[in-house]
Amino acid sequence: MGNYGRHVQTWSEAMEAALYGPNGFYRTNSPDQHFRTSANAGPLLAESLVALMVAIDEDLGHPNQLEIVDVGAGDGRLLSSLHHALPEELSTRTQATAVEVRPRPPDLPPGIGWQDGLPEQITGLLLALEFLDNVPCDVAQVESGELQLVEVDPSTAAEALARPISDEQAEWIARWWPISDEGDRVEIGLQRDQAWAGLVSHLDRGVAVAVDYGHTREERDSGVFDGGTLAGYREGRQVVPIPDGSCDITAHVAMDACAQAGLTAGADSGVLRRQSSALRTLGLDARRPPLELARTDPQAYSEGLARASHAAELLDPAGLGSFWWLMQPKACGPVFAGFNWS
Ligand SMILES: C[S@@+](CC[C@H](N)C(=O)[O-])C[C@H]1O[C@@H](n2cnc3c(N)ncnc32)[C@H](O)[C@@H]1O
Repeated sequence: MGNYGRHVQTWSEAMEAALYGPNGFYRTNSPDQHFRTSANAGPLLAESLVALMVAIDEDLGHPNQLEIVDVGAGDGRLLSSLHHALPEELSTRTQATAVEVRPRPPDLPPGIGWQDGLPEQITGLLLALEFLDNVPCDVAQVESGELQLVEVDPSTAAEALARPISDEQAEWIARWWPISDEGDRVEIGLQRDQAWAGLVSHLDRGVAVAVDYGHTREERDSGVFDGGTLAGYREGRQVVPIPDGSCDITAHVAMDACAQAGLTAGADSGVLRRQSSALRTLGLDARRPPLELARTDPQAYSEGLARASHAAELLDPAGLGSFWWLMQPKACGPVFAGFNWS
């Protein structure tokens, strides 16, 4: 904690301005310029989501019109891949729509919708990949035995403790991330919970899926996140999170709190799994092609190797495979439930 000037903000105010304000990071930067995500790493994620979409279609009785809505779609690459990967008959009944604050990329296939707000009612698949970690959050810290709100100077990231937390924030912390040791920090997930509940409330029938780096109460209680997870990213590197618009500002998501918010917003249940587990359940595997294929069909062999290496990246327990998948069905039947979400 240092001295700071007049221009101080809470972390949620600073994140909002730094990411989405007039000079905000996401006004001028596409996520794929700065970091690799499951969505922009290649087409295999889309293939797995097709399996989910086929199940939803069956559960909903093959309706005439289905939607895939990707909230925080970045450059729209996942929707483009999904557009190509859906079976033709299902594709003709499916409208894919990106919800983004960024401008529509010029090379996006014309059939994919692009808008800055959610459709009123969604029947099908609602996606939010690495969206919730960019929803602003406030930070509180234990100081002299009390929880205090952390304020930040957006031009230097110098912090100070000045204000008590609100009753609502205190309730959230007590329920989801209780801390008491001097200097411990908590990133208050209220705005993420509200954002996720808002998305789920627009789902009429189908499944809402949030994919993000995050934590659950069990992990938080273990103390590994006590220092907080606020981070900055720019050009593939982790940088000091200075909220001046020069870098992405992010914090891990309390996924179990979001799951509860989704239930309150009308979801029937919440399935929370690591990406490695969710993708394996949806049929992804990283097996290499048999060696004899190298002799009989070298091109198929090299394509199989590339595919296996991409799958391994998505399943890597020390990387993208450790991300959480929160899946919340609404009025969706036994096919989704019938997946063995082990
Ligand atoms: C980290 S990027 C993730 C992009 C993509 N889903 C992926 O996984 O590669 C987060 C995206 O969410 C967008 N975003 C943030 N808040 C939004 C909002 N309220 N409405 C629409 N898009 C938003 C940002 O512009 C940014 O492109």
